[in-house]
Amino acid sequence: MSEHSANPSAAAATGRPRAVKAVIPAAGLATRFLPATKAVPKELLPVVDRPVLQYIVEEAAQAGISDVLLITGRGKTSMVDHFDRRPDLEARLEEKGDEKTLAAVRRPSELAEIYTCRQPEQLGLGHAVGYAESHVGDQPFAVLLGDEFVNLSEPLLPAMLELQARTGGVVLAFFEVDPADTKRYGIASVEPAESELTDIGEVVKVTGMVEKPKPEDAPSNLAVLGRYVLPGKIFDAIRRTQPGSGGEIQLTDAMELLRTEGTPVHAIVYRGTRYDTGMPLGYLQTVVQIAAEREDLGAEFRKWLAEFVNSDASGGPNT
Ligand code: UTP
Repeated sequence: MSEHSANPSAAAATGRPRAVKAVIPAAGLATRFLPATKAVPKELLPVVDRPVLQYIVEEAAQAGISDVLLITGRGKTSMVDHFDRRPDLEARLEEKGDEKTLAAVRRPSELAEIYTCRQPEQLGLGHAVGYAESHVGDQPFAVLLGDEFVNLSEPLLPAMLELQARTGGVVLAFFEVDPADTKRYGIASVEPAESELTDIGEVVKVTGMVEKPKPEDAPSNLAVLGRYVLPGKIFDAIRRTQPGSGGEIQLTDAMELLRTEGTPVHAIVYRGTRYDTGMPLGYLQTVVQIAAEREDLGAEFRKWLAEFVNSDASGGPNT
């Protein structure tokens, strides 16, 4: 393995452009979080005092992406309002001289240009991404799933964008799971990549992917994380992809089609912290971790949490 990839000149060296747009598919039905998500999109569930989706757009903005396409669906348009200005609210906060809240209210509208399109029927992640074609064209682009984000102090996306500019192929991210849990995730088979290393994790070459294998059938314990950087030709592959697992048009199947036709597929094995807010347990873990890290309320929250965990009420050690 040679030099690492977080090298801004990498794209220039290959002559390929780095992706500058992100797509956030957020049209799914969120059945794992019902009934909370019957009327409220899971992307708008709060993590402390901002919605999950804001953390995701922050992640894109931190990677230098300022053009974000949200794929929405029925009952989900309120997501877009969060990134709009609120002049009435801002005027009131200005009157009160509440600069801190004012900055927090303005922040989402300053992160990126937000565009939207609708997926009329929820026919799968691949199907949803297909709707981005007229916005993205034939350029590479990032896909960030709307219920997952990473710790911003351990950024993943910049390294993925650089790697994609160098390979021109598909770039994924993996995280390691307990081998007993492979049936909950898309799992990859991999081989070492030549001369690739990033700041944030090892780079591997992907030789195949299986959806939710039993532990005994799993080719590894590397699970697919909700970040992808894709070449524009994925749209043609999506069109050629038949419904797969669950009767849905799967992004995994479209990527597999490209791979078998010769497109290189690489992945970064991410060693940082990943937050999964797509179901109640992961969501609760996320809220607790982020709250505990917050400068403004972390110290008080951690103190309370330690007392709670040791108390009778929690069923903790004193019971
Ligand atoms: P999930 O597998 O998490 O599906 O989709 P879901 O519907 O959101 O949630 P569950 O599994 O029923 O609880 C992964 C991502 O793809 C989007 C989702 O919004 C989520 O961000 N998606 C999925 C779409 O945009 N459209 C679809 O048809 C399916």
